[in-house]
Amino acid sequence: MELTSKEQKMLEGELGEAARQSMEILFALGKIYGAQNLIPVSSVQVAGVSCKTIGEAGLDYLRDLSSKGAKVKVKTFLNPAGMDREQWQKMRVPEGFAKKQIAVLDAYASMGIDMTCTCAPYLVGLRPKKGEHIAWSESSAVVFANSVLGARTNREGGPSALAAAICGVTPNYGMHLDKNRVADFTVKLGSEPKSATDFGALGAFVGEASKGKNTAFFGLKKATEDQLKGLGAALASWGSNALFFAKGITPEWRVSDSAEEISVGQNEITEMKGKMGVPEKPDLITLGCPHASLQEIGSIAALLRGKKLACELWVCTARQTKEKADKAGYSATIEKAGGKVVADTCMVVCPLEEMGYRKTATHSGKAAKYLGSLCKQQVVFDELGAFICK
Ligand code: F3S
Repeated sequence: MELTSKEQKMLEGELGEAARQSMEILFALGKIYGAQNLIPVSSVQVAGVSCKTIGEAGLDYLRDLSSKGAKVKVKTFLNPAGMDREQWQKMRVPEGFAKKQIAVLDAYASMGIDMTCTCAPYLVGLRPKKGEHIAWSESSAVVFANSVLGARTNREGGPSALAAAICGVTPNYGMHLDKNRVADFTVKLGSEPKSATDFGALGAFVGEASKGKNTAFFGLKKATEDQLKGLGAALASWGSNALFFAKGITPEWRVSDSAEEISVGQNEITEMKGKMGVPEKPDLITLGCPHASLQEIGSIAALLRGKKLACELWVCTARQTKEKADKAGYSATIEKAGGKVVADTCMVVCPLEEMGYRKTATHSGKAAKYLGSLCKQQVVFDELGAFICK
């Protein structure tokens, strides 16, 4: 792999130990994937923030890097943490967990990273343009950036994204290259998805069927950005997809002549929904996976105005969006119905199981996947309306 003289200096430790260690990661990755060079990135999004997912070893790694003077060179945001930094007591997050979480966030802050903890940075100002090279690691953000924005990123791991932030570059392979941005799996839709659970189930079904291949949808006539966010997140979690196209909707459309083809209709969606949850009464309803936009919070508030929820509700979002929702009065309406808007965190990376929850509801395809596997929850997969008291 060819390096510029500055990159070579980083690799040889002339620009400090943190840069050397980070360049070593990027160099090794580039060699594994056959990259010819490194390319500058305009932004980075780092996963591996909740101490539930990174544990003590992750905290030690971050503290070590911080003690070596690591500083990021480009705009860098974090993925959700294990708690809302301001409301963790109100959420009943255990104190020991909170202390460790604060230590993780302090380590990241010392590197000059923006303390916005969100899996949807494109909703709060970090919105790369078509063709822009970035290094993001949250899988739902990666598929959104590649597919809906036309930006270019591989599915980075937490350490490789952090290394890209410290060095300002990433290996040039995979999704950064035109030749890999071609669909080799196509889906003909027999019916239009409408609700959040429709989009989540469609993403889950196609994710499993495509096994992570770049996928092109025919017949998706209209979809809002929020619906595409939910579809992509489900594809990425049930099938590890990093890129999809929707004819007439996404900024890119390239389909291989030899692409595999399937049809998906209402029967497949209904059957998939049945696999994604059980018809139980939940302890907690969780929305905002990926993090909710202001419009979504507004719609939730409109649905809940003057109503009562059958159990607790969290609407997960970025702090900046929560502040706007507070100002617009949406948070107060949701609280009156028995819910709360929580920032910096989400249902999957907070310690739900330690907090006594056993049955959690969601309308998100991605959350439905991980609430069961990572949070030991019985999953109830349904729309919010199903949990409003009659
Ligand atoms: Fe985001 Fe958490 Fe879902 S990180 S995509 S809200 S699992």
